[in-house]
Amino acid sequence: MDPVLETIYNMDTASMERCAQHLMLGGGTRGGPVLARGKGVRVWDTDGNDYVDCTSQSWALYLGYANDDINQVIREHIENMSHVHQGFDTLPRFYLADKLAALAPGELNRVSFTVGGGAALEAAMKICMKNVEPARDFVCLHDSYHGTTLGSMGASWVSTKASGKYIGGSRFLSLTRPFIRIPNPYTYRNPFGVDADTYVDMCLTMARETFQRGIAGRPAGVIVEPIQASAGQVILPESYLWELRELCDEFETLLVFDEIQTFARIGEMFAADYFGVTPDIIVLGKGLGAGLPLAAIIISHKLERFAPDAEELHTFANPSLSMVASAKLIALLEESVLDNCRQMGAYLGDGMRAMMDEYPEIGDVRQAGLHIGVEFVRDPETKEPIVDETVAIRSEGFSQGIIFGLGGVRRNVLKIKPPLILSRAEADEILAKLEACMKAVLRK
Ligand SMILES: Cc1ncc(COP(=O)(O)O)c(C=O)c1O
Repeated sequence: MDPVLETIYNMDTASMERCAQHLMLGGGTRGGPVLARGKGVRVWDTDGNDYVDCTSQSWALYLGYANDDINQVIREHIENMSHVHQGFDTLPRFYLADKLAALAPGELNRVSFTVGGGAALEAAMKICMKNVEPARDFVCLHDSYHGTTLGSMGASWVSTKASGKYIGGSRFLSLTRPFIRIPNPYTYRNPFGVDADTYVDMCLTMARETFQRGIAGRPAGVIVEPIQASAGQVILPESYLWELRELCDEFETLLVFDEIQTFARIGEMFAADYFGVTPDIIVLGKGLGAGLPLAAIIISHKLERFAPDAEELHTFANPSLSMVASAKLIALLEESVLDNCRQMGAYLGDGMRAMMDEYPEIGDVRQAGLHIGVEFVRDPETKEPIVDETVAIRSEGFSQGIIFGLGGVRRNVLKIKPPLILSRAEADEILAKLEACMKAVLRK
């Protein structure tokens, strides 16, 4: 083994503690195990304990840890190339652009690659501004999350008081873009206590009112996560997305789908396939590179695209290694992984819903493919969120050998988004461990 790697791999606890003092983290719930290696859906910590990982590490390891096919492609390609300047063409970039253009819905067929989700969101905003002139304002939804770059943070709920206090983005207001927010059709709970259909109608009415009277001029674009992930896995109703599409057409603005979390994970390549609604711009990130950094936007050839005068230029926007990994990922998705995602997602969703009788604290199970949220409440009638218990269930997971995600603006949603290669036995293990964790916390 390389001596540097050997030193790194052999660090003892004291060295880890010393080194940790120099780390500065601006987010992410710490306090979990120190991870050493992974294979498939399983990861081992430095003490040799293993965990089923329901987070896919930022939901990005679509094929799990150390996937043999992806590793093979990386090994072969790294002998030829890794980093390439954006100005040079490469065969992987040609191939991937063509592939994404062929898969994307409607006339979306021009791809621009970039370095991460926040930057991709900003790239989409730039395309909107070029095409909807004169326009300045962007519309986004309550509880949305689109990143923490200065250009995207204003669209993320972390810049609001949604969590009960001002946190994160609210400290950067002097440089963060203001976004105009419209209510999200979170049909499980709403501030008016009306039924779900009525609330969807109210959200659409509010959207229309805002477009008509709440914005100076045309909005530059309307940015939406078709399934609001960070908000707590909130699946937007199809009818809402349809009507939002129509509103965008009526008000001559562009509809942007932030598919950074939904791409393939919902059992379809794109939300347009899932909901039957085609946006003007799709934003991709996270899983796109099979665990390597890669993000992209896809637009229609009818839109004015970036001009080659440094409108969109990043040192690492042509990551050749990530691109071959992505190409291989897409081949595997098409072969069988997407089907597996649909099947295992439905299996987990059914299994979790079946637990609701015994655990009425499970207020709602929201599942689309392997994009799953379980919302915990004190009582299904009052829907009072139980935050401490949800946090405790996640912590109990570490003892039971499972890593859950935790989120939602109220922090009462467990996120269960394992790699898309999950087997039936692993799905059963997740269900059994989830039940064991709930029992330990809710029935002690
Ligand atoms: C829906 C969505 N959009 C944008 C982002 C930002 O992506 P990144 O963290 O790669 O900047 C995220 C990240 O969690 C996300 O979930």
